[in-house]
Formats: sequence, C-alpha cells, structure tokens
Amino acid sequence: MHQIEEMIGTSPAMRAVVELVRKVAKTDLPVLITGETGTGKELTARAIHEQSLRKQGPFVPINCGAIPETLLESELFGHEQGAFTGAVQRKKGRLEGAARGTLLLDEVGDLLSSLQVKLLRFLQEGTFERVGGQETLHVDARIIGATNVDLKAAIERNRFREDLYYRLGVLQIHLPPLRERGEDTLLMAMRFLRYAADSNRKAIWGYTSEALQAMRSYHWPGNVRELSNRVRRAVIIAEEREITPHDLGLTHETAQEEGDSLNSLRVAQRRIEVELIVKGISLHHGNLTRVARDLDVSRTTLYRKLREYNLQCLVPPSHPTSVPLPSEFPIEKRSLADHSIL
Ligand SMILES: Nc1ncnc2c1ncn2[C@@H]1O[C@H](COP(=O)(O)OP(=O)(O)OP(=O)(O)O)[C@@H](O)[C@H]1O
Ligand SMILES: [Mg+2]
Repeated sequence: MHQIEEMIGTSPAMRAVVELVRKVAKTDLPVLITGETGTGKELTARAIHEQSLRKQGPFVPINCGAIPETLLESELFGHEQGAFTGAVQRKKGRLEGAARGTLLLDEVGDLLSSLQVKLLRFLQEGTFERVGGQETLHVDARIIGATNVDLKAAIERNRFREDLYYRLGVLQIHLPPLRERGEDTLLMAMRFLRYAADSNRKAIWGYTSEALQAMRSYHWPGNVRELSNRVRRAVIIAEEREITPHDLGLTHETAQEEGDSLNSLRVAQRRIEVELIVKGISLHHGNLTRVARDLDVSRTTLYRKLREYNLQCLVPPSHPTSVPLPSEFPIEKRSLADHSIL
C-alpha cells in the first residue's frame, strides 16, 4: 500500500497537505516539512518519495539530532580511509546511499553550522567531499528536511543559516497539530482501533460517548503518535466492548475546554456526521445494518459515507450495497457479519 493511502485525513487541513504532497512529488526540488512532534513528518516524506519518479530508488532517513555531532559528518557524507582514528576503510555516507532516491534529514534544525555549509553547497551545486577526501563527488539525491522547531526563530538566534533555510524551504509542507484537524481525530481513532482489535483478536468495536468526548477535548501534545499509542494500549487493557476514557488514560484533568471559535457549516456538518457514525458503530458493535437504521439512512448511503471518511476498513469487502453472507467475509472481517441481523 502506498504511504499516501495510509495517511488518514479528510479535514480541510489534511486534504490540503495530501494535495501538496502530490504536487511536490512531481518535482526534484528540496522540501521542508514542519510540524509538531508526531504529526506525521516522516510519513509525509515517505509519501512524497513513493509518489515521485524516484520511488524505485532508496528512501534514506537520517536523524540529525540523534547522531553524535562528531559522527554526523561522516555518517552523512562518508569518509576516506584514515580520515580519523578508527576510519580503517573508506565508507560511503547516507547521501551516497540515497543516490537516485530521497534523503530525509530529520531534525534538520540540529545540524551543526559547519554541516549546514556543506549541505548548502550540496543543495546549490550537487557536490560534496567525503571526510578526509579530496575528490569532489556528485550524487543525484533529493533532499527533504523535517523539523519540529521553528527554524525562523533559530535563524534569529544564529543557530540556522538563513541562506540554507531558503534553499531547503523552496517547497514547504506544514502539518497541522492533531487538535486542529477536526473530525480526523475520530477517524484515526477508529482506524487504529480496528487495526489493534483485529491484531489482538479482541471484539472491541468502538468508544463510549465519554471516550469520544474526552478525545475531542484533549489537546494531544504528542499528536498522531500519541493517539495511536493510547488506542493500542486501550485495546489491550479494555475489559468491555467499548473503550472508555479510563482505558485511554484520558481523565478530566487532561481534558481542555473547547474554544468557542466559529466553524463553517460544512466543517461542523462533517464533524457531526463522523461523530454519529463512530457512535453508531460503537453502539451496534460494527453492525452496519443497525447503524444505518439508527441514523435513518440507507446502507448504501452509510457505506458511501464510510468510504468518504476513509473508514473502508469497516465496510464488508464485497457487494458493498447488498447484504453479504457471513461466508463471503475473509476471516478477519467475519466479526462484522457475526452481528448481522439479516
Ligand atoms: N495522517 C496520518 N494517518 C495515519 N497515521 C499517521 C498519520 N500521521 C502520522 N501517523 C502515524 O503517527 C506516527 C508518527 O508519525 P511520524 O513518525 O511520521 O511523525 P513525526 O512528525 O516524524 O514525529 P517526530 O517529530 O516525533 O519525529 C507514525 O506511526 C505514523 O504512521
Ligand atoms: Mg520523525
């Protein structure tokens, strides 16, 4: 499955991101992906790579903040034999490893200034030297940078070069925090739940109303990663068929009052639809016939909505508009039919 298909999100903010990913994937220009921790920067970088003409080539991530400064230069650009104590043989760096592919410089804001200069030269001329090397090398690698720090502020503090910022950030993609993604939180919560429940073989279909409320009002500092972790843990510890705020570790103290900013009618309508569908699925343990009846829509309409909101994982795989027989389901989907009243 392509990464872009794994990116869940139907909120206007995320649709704009998906659209940008498609556009930037067509070029070879550097991209800068910004966003708080856990918002999906690496996932987005992989999606760009997979949508690009370089998709047959390697995708090489390197975390500039996690590698000791002394090693980073040789890790990134490689070294020649004898370049430093311990350099017993020539070694290619990650940049060369990304030839004909994409290099993701994660936490690019942590690059030392000497390496910023070297990276800038690579971005401008496509050339570099290995540590201890005289030979000028050329590599065809696309550079994507990712950061969760404000690089503009880092420039002000002389921690990041302005010229590098403009080179690297020709194309920028900002990933909004989860708390600004409207209905996406519940859509993701539902997808993560289905996945975790299936892999743990637990018959859990949804969330209590309190859990939905808690997820909606929590501020999600760890964003999508935190949501995914909380749901996975909740599935393991849940004792009922629905996940409670307690299972999610979301208590009253963690909730925050929702702001009273006005939403457009369309945005509000989507939020309400998603919430009602998720509630219905939780209440009827995945029996879509009952959900449709409760929501007073046809099953066709319900299936269409589920597809629209990327909840296909809840729709029986075949005969989407007729009632499938239990035997038509693959094993992992059979529990859907187990609850069928028809
Ligand atoms: N839109 C999305 N749909 C589905 N899963 C997502 C989405 N965004 C992020 N995730 C998942 O959330 C987790 C965190 O994503 P990722 O590692 O890409 O975030 P990040 O921004 O690079 O985080 P960090 O700043 O901490 O490095 C991953 O498991 C990823 O698959
Ligand atoms: Mg990351």
